[in-house]
Amino acid sequence: MCGIFGCILKNGNAAPVIHSSLKRLEYRGYDSVGIATISDGKIFLKKDQGKIDEVHKCINLDDLPGNIGIGHTRWATHGAPLHVNSHPHSDCTGTITVVHNGIIENFGDLKLELQNLGHAFVSKTDTEVIPHLIEEIMKNKLGSSFADAVQEAIKRLEGSFALAAISSYEPDKIVCARNESPLVLGVSDNGVFCASDIPAFLPLTNKVVMINNGELIILTVEGYQIKKIQDNSLVERVPETIEWTAEMAVKQGYPHFMIKEIHEQPEVLRNTLRLQDRYLDLLSTFLDRATEIFLVACGTSYHACLAASYMFSKLSFLPTYPVYASEFIEQYGKSVNIDSTILAVSQSGETADTIAAVTCAQQRAATILSLTNVIGSTLTRVSRVYVGTQAGPEIGVAATKTFTSQLSVLVQLALRLAKKRGKVSQDEIDVLEVQLDKLPDIVDVIVKTQEDKVKQIAHKYANSKVFFFLGRGISTATAFEGRLKLMEIAYVPSIAFPAGESKHGPISLIENGLPVVFVCQKDETHKTVIGNIMEMKARGAKILAIIEEGDNEIKALADDYIEVPKGVPSVLSPIPFAVPLQLLAYYMALEHDCDPDMPRNLAKSVTVK
Ligand code: AGP
Repeated sequence: MCGIFGCILKNGNAAPVIHSSLKRLEYRGYDSVGIATISDGKIFLKKDQGKIDEVHKCINLDDLPGNIGIGHTRWATHGAPLHVNSHPHSDCTGTITVVHNGIIENFGDLKLELQNLGHAFVSKTDTEVIPHLIEEIMKNKLGSSFADAVQEAIKRLEGSFALAAISSYEPDKIVCARNESPLVLGVSDNGVFCASDIPAFLPLTNKVVMINNGELIILTVEGYQIKKIQDNSLVERVPETIEWTAEMAVKQGYPHFMIKEIHEQPEVLRNTLRLQDRYLDLLSTFLDRATEIFLVACGTSYHACLAASYMFSKLSFLPTYPVYASEFIEQYGKSVNIDSTILAVSQSGETADTIAAVTCAQQRAATILSLTNVIGSTLTRVSRVYVGTQAGPEIGVAATKTFTSQLSVLVQLALRLAKKRGKVSQDEIDVLEVQLDKLPDIVDVIVKTQEDKVKQIAHKYANSKVFFFLGRGISTATAFEGRLKLMEIAYVPSIAFPAGESKHGPISLIENGLPVVFVCQKDETHKTVIGNIMEMKARGAKILAIIEEGDNEIKALADDYIEVPKGVPSVLSPIPFAVPLQLLAYYMALEHDCDPDMPRNLAKSVTVK
């Protein structure tokens, strides 16, 4: 997730406006920044890696000339956060520059095609293919307008994009376009703006034009023209006035980042399904050859590893050992060796316990692989191979969208291994891949249809002193994650166990009215879970069940239930089944007047051991 911005002013220089607007988009990404403006028919460009304030201090982003320009604040997905990979990106001649937010899935093929035509690339980004594509089209279709060339180039792109382009050929306009990644326009008396999000220009205007997928916009100092990319038809759309405060705008109108990020999960899961094959293939090749594999992480990332151990075992017949990073050195520090492989999972890529465990394993010649949300983090620098989860910055301390994006990447790895190892039928793999593609929409349905019910359940049980979370099979991991969420942001003491463990001790805690959350995916564990529910009911527990839609057997036993759309295979179930538990924790926090974004005693990245 990155932030793009563009502006054309009637009076004044564009650069300072772009700079301050990018600052307001910094929550969308902050590992590098750049601005390009046009003055007297020439393009002026400054960019570098680093946060906006750091870069501005070094190269002064405000002193670029001209009343028109574009800018970008980056969250690295392809290519490390280096100067060379920062936006804007230009064509061979430096007369076309582009900023982009999204993922161009076919950039590898396009880059090869353009290189064979003689185009020289300098970065590792997917974005850089866009200015070169526009350049090639303008070269071959002499006389075509800049906007037409941008439109033609966009038709070659597969994947998600919100982009803005300028050219010294036509120095009076910005051409921008949207497919999946957000893009909005701002209209003021002194000019027009395009941005990834409303906060960018809110201090300048609250007249907003929302842009839809498949639309291209030509901005000039007179205003804007919207047209459909596919059929070139013009779109009439007048600005609407929004009444958000600046703080509300950064949260896109949500009261907290956590609920915004829970709602972002469908988009994040779509992006996570756009990972470059070569990264997943490389990781799965290392895993396939490994003799012993430790899945090392903390907190929520550990729960993703726990779920992954079921995925790798069931799909690839590959045994893996989830280990709390803080225990790894004590438990395996002496035995880890050159034949060991570590797959470290960390949203921040900076968790001290995880880095310490990885460093210990690396010193004993183990192979280090990793999955992280922050490209360029310490973890990526110590890994032999890493892959990003494409979740964009997660501002809320509680991990939500990064958990489900980790699970999506891990199950994609397990599926690649399943194909390599031939342990499950191609038919089964095909079904899983189809269902995986449906998950963003399934999560969207859950958020849209179950949120109010979860809110009511949180209110109903707001005074409960302790919660149980139980699951069987892969849902053990989901139950553990639900427990962590409720503890860490609503401060409710919570207990989680594999449901089968209850009778080995924990059941002694059950008292009349105590809420027990069961995570009940429809698989071979379903019958035994029903037995566990009966055990709890018999002792007076209140049963809260997360079930598959239409699971009447459990509906009849539960005091309350939340339904997940039908047909989610068990190995994929932690992704949708986690969402009601995230919502439960969020609304319980509100019931307890806790700040869901900044829970007491916790930090987003625990960089101390
Ligand atoms: C999860 O909601 C917590 N914020 C915490 O448990 C977190 O998952 C843990 O600290 C690991 O962080 P990492 O993924 O950045 O390594």
